[in-house]
Amino acid sequence: SKPKVVICRDLGPATALLMNRTDIEVVLWPEDRGCAREWLLENIKGAVGVLVLLPDIVNAELLEAAGPNLRVVSTMSVGYEHIDLPLMAQRKIRVGYTPDVLTEAVADLSVMLALMAGRNDGVAYSLVKNGDASGSWSKFNWSPFTFCGPQLSTTASSPNRTVGFLGFGRISQATLARLVPFGITHCIYTGSPTSKPETARDAALKAKYKLAAVERVDLDRLARESDVLFVLTPGGKETYHLVDAAFLKKMKEMSVLINTSRGTVVDSDALATALHEKWIWGAGLDVVEGEPRIGTDHPLVKEPRCVIVPHIGSATFQTRMDMATRAIDNLIGGVFGTEMPAELDAR
Ligand code: GLV
Ligand code: GLV
Repeated sequence: SKPKVVICRDLGPATALLMNRTDIEVVLWPEDRGCAREWLLENIKGAVGVLVLLPDIVNAELLEAAGPNLRVVSTMSVGYEHIDLPLMAQRKIRVGYTPDVLTEAVADLSVMLALMAGRNDGVAYSLVKNGDASGSWSKFNWSPFTFCGPQLSTTASSPNRTVGFLGFGRISQATLARLVPFGITHCIYTGSPTSKPETARDAALKAKYKLAAVERVDLDRLARESDVLFVLTPGGKETYHLVDAAFLKKMKEMSVLINTSRGTVVDSDALATALHEKWIWGAGLDVVEGEPRIGTDHPLVKEPRCVIVPHIGSATFQTRMDMATRAIDNLIGGVFGTEMPAELDAR
C-alpha cells in the first residue's frame, strides 16, 4: 500500500503538489482553521509522514498515536520549538523545516516595523483610518514637533546610528544589509553563549558595508548602545525573557525595540511599563507572548507607541509558496528516505 502522509493545513495553491502525486496517500485536514488535535491524533495512525505548522505540537502523545511507521515530521516554519527534537532523535524520526526561504520577507518586515515604530505610525495611521468622516486629519493639532520620532537614517546633524541585534543569524544579517543605505554606522550583536566568535566574518561585514564597527557584545552593552534593537533569536527556554525590565531600563530613551522572532524573548509586562514610563521611545512587534490571544485590552496594544502586527513576518505570496514547497519536498524526502532540502540535525 502507498505510504500515508497527514497534512495539518490546506496549503493553498501548493496543495496540488501533494494531491497530484500518485505514490502517496494524502490525508488533509479539511477545515480552514488550525488542525484539531483530536482529528490529528486519530488520522495520524499508521502515517509515514506528517506536515505540521507552528501550533501543532509534536510530542510523545503524537508519536504514540502515529505508531511505528512514522519516519518524518516536516514543519512549514523556520522555528521548531513545537517539536521535541531529542525525542525525534531517539526515535530516529527525521525533521524538516523551512529556513532561508523566509529570510528576506522577515527582514523586510523588521525594517518596516523599525520605521513605523520610530515614526509614530501606529497613531498617525489610525488618526486617519479610524477617525470620523468629517475630516479627522484636519482636527489634529499640527505643530512642528507633533508626531515626531527618532529618525532611523543618519543625518548631517546626527551622523551616528547603532543598530543592535539580539541574535545574529540569517535574518539579522539580511536586516543589516537593508539598513546600510540608511547610513547606519555601528552594528553590535549578541550570540548564543555556546556559539564561537566569528571575527573573520565580522571584519568582512564591516569592510563590505563600510561600517565603523561590527562587534559581538554582551547583553548589557547591547541594551545600552543600540539606537534600534532587533530581537531575532529562536524562542524556547534559553531565550525566555532575555529582554526584561532590567534590560529595558538600560536602553536609550530614544531607542526603538523590534521583535520579529518569538514573543517569549520579551517580557510583555516589562515592555508595556518601559513604553508607558518612556524608558524607551517605541516598539514594533510581529510577535507577542501569549499570541494569538491578544485583545485590545492587552497592555501593549494600549500603548500608543507600540506598533503590533499579528505574526505576519513571512506572509508574502512568494515566501509562503516557497515555504510550502520546501515543507512538501522535505516531507517527500523523508517518506522515501532520500535527501530533504532542509533537514534539522535533531541530535
Ligand atoms: C515563523 O514564525 C516561523 O517559524 O516560520
Ligand atoms: C533564524 O532562523 C535566522 O535565520 O536568523
